[in-house]
Amino acid sequence: MAETLILSGKTVSQNVYKSLQTRIDSLISSGCTPGLAVVLVGDNSASRIYVKSKAKRFDKMSLFSETFTLPDTVQEKEVLSLINDLNTDNRFHGILVQMPLPNHLNDSTIIEAVNPLKDVDGFHPENLGRLTAGHPRFVPCTPKGIMRILDYFKIDLSGKHVVVLGRSNIVGRPISILTSLKQSYSNATTTICHSGTTDIPYYTQQADILIAAIGAPEFVTSAHIKEGAVIIDVGINRVEDESEKGYSLVGDVHFESVNDKVSAITPVPGGVGPMTIAMLVENTIEAAERLVSV
Ligand SMILES: NC(=O)c1ccc[n+]([C@@H]2O[C@H](COP(=O)([O-])OP(=O)(O)OC[C@H]3O[C@@H](n4cnc5c(N)ncnc54)[C@H](OP(=O)(O)O)[C@@H]3O)[C@@H](O)[C@H]2O)c1
Repeated sequence: MAETLILSGKTVSQNVYKSLQTRIDSLISSGCTPGLAVVLVGDNSASRIYVKSKAKRFDKMSLFSETFTLPDTVQEKEVLSLINDLNTDNRFHGILVQMPLPNHLNDSTIIEAVNPLKDVDGFHPENLGRLTAGHPRFVPCTPKGIMRILDYFKIDLSGKHVVVLGRSNIVGRPISILTSLKQSYSNATTTICHSGTTDIPYYTQQADILIAAIGAPEFVTSAHIKEGAVIIDVGINRVEDESEKGYSLVGDVHFESVNDKVSAITPVPGGVGPMTIAMLVENTIEAAERLVSV
């Protein structure tokens, strides 16, 4: 069998950043610096790392971003009041509420408070509804990044069987919608599996393209897949080990076990991860272009 193609999200994201530069320059020269407001509640260490790397990337691209940090104990009405202010603050074209939120806050209430025209995460029901209807405005960043990887490496979805593991509103559900849209870039037959699926290997063994987004370290092994499948591993899981850091990052797929059997696979790290931030930048630029042209 031919050598396995490594689907590097690092390469694709660099390509995205390069292609966005003209749009950024044009916005800035017309007096508009695309701006992102990040709302970070509490002290989740992974969230802090994600938020920091988003801010760093915005800085590197000469874009504006500001992080609003609220304590773990914040009342819901204070979060809503901040979002309300950000909705009308012209410096910000995009608003992102970093998930997960502390348990006493209602995710839906907070997501629905964001102006859908600034919802660069694409989680607002209006944006998810538009995606479902086949007229997307903001597409959630991770699924959008997956589609971009498939497009970059010329992996055609039409007529293929895509199996998605996971049905979260952030990854599994939107990627299942995207892959099955009646569009030239899509048009797959998509099956979605979750914790209520009785025989997961039965489905995954039929997948031409398997997208794993369950948050279970190295769950998918050689026994789950068919020869020549394409694997998109969304999982980012911390596994304790003897290294200096005390942990390493692994995906939802056992890379070594499947590598010889598949035709292409995203690595972890360096696969889907870099695309999520690249798509956040792209969505913020889209938001700025839309708001400027109104
Ligand atoms: N690369 C990136 O940029 C990026 C972005 C987002 C997330 N992630 C990673 O992707 C993974 C998934 O994230 P998420 O936010 O979608 O997670 P999530 O909200 O926890 O959802 C996990 C989904 O997987 C299903 N599931 C969990 N364990 C399962 C099992 N053993 N068998 C079958 N289904 C199972 C759950 O089923 P139920 O619905 O039945 O509970 C749920 O639908 C995590 O590792 C996360 O860190 C990566």
